Amino acid sequence: MERNIVLTGFMGSGKTSVGKRLSMELKREFIDMDDFIVTKEGMSVNEIFAQKGEVYFREQERELCARFSQPKSKIIATGGGVIKNDENMKNLKSGGTVFYFKSTPERIAYNLRFDNTRPLLAGDNKEEKIRSLMLEREHLYEKYADIIIDVSNIDIEATLNEIKRRVK
Ligand code: S3P
Repeated sequence: MERNIVLTGFMGSGKTSVGKRLSMELKREFIDMDDFIVTKEGMSVNEIFAQKGEVYFREQERELCARFSQPKSKIIATGGGVIKNDENMKNLKSGGTVFYFKSTPERIAYNLRFDNTRPLLAGDNKEEKIRSLMLEREHLYEKYADIIIDVSNIDIEATLNEIKRRVK
């Protein structure tokens, strides 16, 4: 089995879109952590946060990360908050290579301008919320990354090429 390819980064940085394409091109199984939890719970992320709470969601995330501590040739798109837990990242790093899709608050705000599926960005002043969460988290994304790709000025195609070049 090959090392997993683990995609980390802020909400709206393109982990899911790139992960799906990469999975087709490399013929490796794709796991989207949010989708996995949503399917398991039979509820949207918004509903899980509202009805069961963020702590419950983080626990589901934690259990899922623990399953990927071995190389299984998978492509894994993580949720943006996965880096808040050191154990999660130890598990993911022991099974795979961790990519960080680094972006800017402006670009993230643009990508998510019509999005209402992220409970942490609900309500007014989305860009401000992005800015302050990013300030809190940036050092964690960087700390755990094996490879950082600046995606703020490149498209999916270029991101894909960069990953393929790095995992060769
Ligand atoms: C979160 C990111 C989301 C999802 C949840 C919380 C976060 O995943 O897990 O809304 O804390 O950054 P995406 O990064 O796929 O949007």
